[in-house]
Amino acid sequence: MCNIWFVGNKQNENYMKILIIGGNGTIGNKVSSHFSDSNEIIIAGRTSGDLIVDISDSHSIKSMFEKTVGLDAIICIAGEAKWDDFDELSEEDYYIGVKSKLMGQVNVVRIGRNYLNPSGSITLSTGILADDPVVKTTSAAMVNGGIHSFVQAVALEIENGIRVNAVSLGVVEDAYDKYKDYFPGHNPIPMKKVINAYARSVFGKSNGEIIRIYD
Ligand SMILES: NC(=O)c1ccc[n+]([C@@H]2O[C@H](COP(=O)([O-])OP(=O)(O)OC[C@H]3O[C@@H](n4cnc5c(N)ncnc54)[C@H](OP(=O)(O)O)[C@@H]3O)[C@@H](O)[C@H]2O)c1
Repeated sequence: MCNIWFVGNKQNENYMKILIIGGNGTIGNKVSSHFSDSNEIIIAGRTSGDLIVDISDSHSIKSMFEKTVGLDAIICIAGEAKWDDFDELSEEDYYIGVKSKLMGQVNVVRIGRNYLNPSGSITLSTGILADDPVVKTTSAAMVNGGIHSFVQAVALEIENGIRVNAVSLGVVEDAYDKYKDYFPGHNPIPMKKVINAYARSVFGKSNGEIIRIYD
């Protein structure tokens, strides 16, 4: 990574080449546009972006990384799980979250570390459901909790100075109207706090940290 210091309204962050998977989504869009101010951003997504990837397919993840060179940071803000009543969720329904949000992000770490510069970082995305679930989220809460445990454990073993963290958010301001009925009494998370959580993971020194932003 090159040490370029910015002046004026730019941040004093090291210039980095950052891959943002899900960088065109609701959260990803705000994070990418903030980081693009003083870093090189590559956006990957399922249907749009500089690179196309389906994180539920490890071959697709590998093929995406093959098209990258010299990444300093990988951020994943993508992954799905099915929301429904516990009585309605079939075994197959659980596998949607397991393949996409859980193993998708685990595979981003497993494969992506080989394409990162030494001392690079990988930031995954989870959410408040891991700690404070609401109804219809047995699958979504489960995969979020699984990622939290994975992040803490992989940080003990991953080599080359690579750091792995997860950003765990409450319902974000930009998605509040869509989700507010599922989260009675929850406060929307301001997008500035969301951006700062990712900045803390990428530009800070934490490793194995679950960066919780719940209010
Ligand atoms: N919104 C919230 O309040 C909130 C709070 C906590 C945690 N989260 C988590 O944060 C993540 C992003 O949330 P969001 O609200 O920004 O979602 P979003 O608006 O639906 O955006 C998701 C992005 O990820 C991409 N994506 C989805 N599945 C993918 C896959 N299998 N492979 C590659 N790319 C994929 C989408 O690409 P396409 O559009 O091309 O499919 C889109 O760019 C999710 O995992 C969500 O559970 C969200």
